[in-house]
Amino acid sequence: LMPERCDFTVFGGTGNLSLHKLLPALYHSELEGHLPDDTRIIGVSLTDLDDDAYRALVHDALLEQVGDLDDDTSERLLARLHHVRLDIEEAADWHNLYGLLKDRPEVESTVRVYYLAVAPTLFGPICRRLGDGGMTEAPARVVLEKPLGHDLASARAINAVVGEVFDESQIFRIDHYLGKESVQNLLVTRFANTLLEPLWNSHWIDHIQITVAETVGVGERVGYYDRAGAMRDMVQNHLLQLLCLVAMEPPIEVGREDVRDEKMKVLQALKPMTAVEIDRDIVRGRYAAGPVEGRQVKSYDEEVGRVSTGSTDEGLTETFVALKAEVQNWRWAGVPFYLRTGKRMDRRSSEIVVVFKEPPHDVFPHRTGVTAPNRLHIQVQPDEGMRLHLTAKEPGPGGYRLKPVSLDLNFASAFTQRSPDAYERLLMDVVKGNPTLFMRRDEVEAAWTWVDPIIQHWTESGLPPKRYAAGSAGPTTAITLIERDGRSWQEDSL
Ligand code: BG6
Repeated sequence: LMPERCDFTVFGGTGNLSLHKLLPALYHSELEGHLPDDTRIIGVSLTDLDDDAYRALVHDALLEQVGDLDDDTSERLLARLHHVRLDIEEAADWHNLYGLLKDRPEVESTVRVYYLAVAPTLFGPICRRLGDGGMTEAPARVVLEKPLGHDLASARAINAVVGEVFDESQIFRIDHYLGKESVQNLLVTRFANTLLEPLWNSHWIDHIQITVAETVGVGERVGYYDRAGAMRDMVQNHLLQLLCLVAMEPPIEVGREDVRDEKMKVLQALKPMTAVEIDRDIVRGRYAAGPVEGRQVKSYDEEVGRVSTGSTDEGLTETFVALKAEVQNWRWAGVPFYLRTGKRMDRRSSEIVVVFKEPPHDVFPHRTGVTAPNRLHIQVQPDEGMRLHLTAKEPGPGGYRLKPVSLDLNFASAFTQRSPDAYERLLMDVVKGNPTLFMRRDEVEAAWTWVDPIIQHWTESGLPPKRYAAGSAGPTTAITLIERDGRSWQEDSL
């Protein structure tokens, strides 16, 4: 249920995420009339800004991100904005923030949302201060941006500190991939249809591919990214979440905990990788200079300001990962899951491809033409849609000449509604207190449990990632990874 009043406080209110994602999402919620009438948005940052200066900053960001602004909407949104300068160490700054939060009518029933768009090392200290100020009683909620920690130990430590101040039901760990329309549609495709689910297992599926390819580079986030790398930035969260939704058992209901319970079981079934498997079944890459979308771009090393010496002490950060994973349970025994993600690739595309087995018996031994196994291609972004690849007979006499054909569903043409950005949906879920599309404590820790030994092995072996030219499909070894199993990466933009 949408509450009547809300104070939406963003720590990191002048940062990239706030200006590029959160405030544009709130703008759209305002436009659609989804924000509770009595809502304030409070940006908190280290910058010295009064409310008007913050409004001007946000206005510029909205112009850049949204483009054509609806004047009434942006006026209403900007009027909701406040800014509090806050140094985490300064008690006086915190008192300013407490004062502002208490200074409103109906303070008891106001839903307070604290969105922590800051480094995870600050999650604990911020929550403690909010607790000290008596600001954490329900209906308060805290939103933690990913990555939650740097490894299992730090994630556990963060969860423990945040858990001392907030109840688990008040904690919203965001993975914005879960807010994407096409990702939610995955649940509907699987569980609101009868056609696919009987085939959704090792008897009929040969393997599954999950790709999240980006054309962007590391950009302004060097400081964070160089310590994270693609494994922590993308695989630990977005890719494993996609894998969970593809692999999970049907939940009893898309209700509060069922989906999260089922995702958790998939994470627990992920086969831990031995050192030999890590070296054999995972490819790491780092982009060199090259042309992306017609423009020559710098190498990762140049972007982070590191001189490439070719020696092993030049940093181990990967911007690309391809791997083969196994889900050890009844449904998926023997079905490989090939995952890959990279920055500065040849195209921006997130997709899930389910490749079915060959028919058990060939009734067209004298056929001509081409056949390929059936494939369900789910395009997460851009151009959301689905394509089912079948085999058909080409018209004409002269025997059976076969050809792959496809059934296409393009969301943009099937539906006229605007597809909201992931953050729009998720922010409104926080305001309403609906946790289904957020990661639970045990899920985050289970994902780190699988990822940790991999990163540890990389650190111990000290081998730098393979180079790949910006604008390519990643290191050639990522192609070998799948081709040595007699399979290939399936790419077909819708
Ligand atoms: C973020 C990562 O979580 O997701 C970024 O930190 C990445 O590195 C981004 O670029 C990708 O999100 P989207 O929605 O553009 O696919």
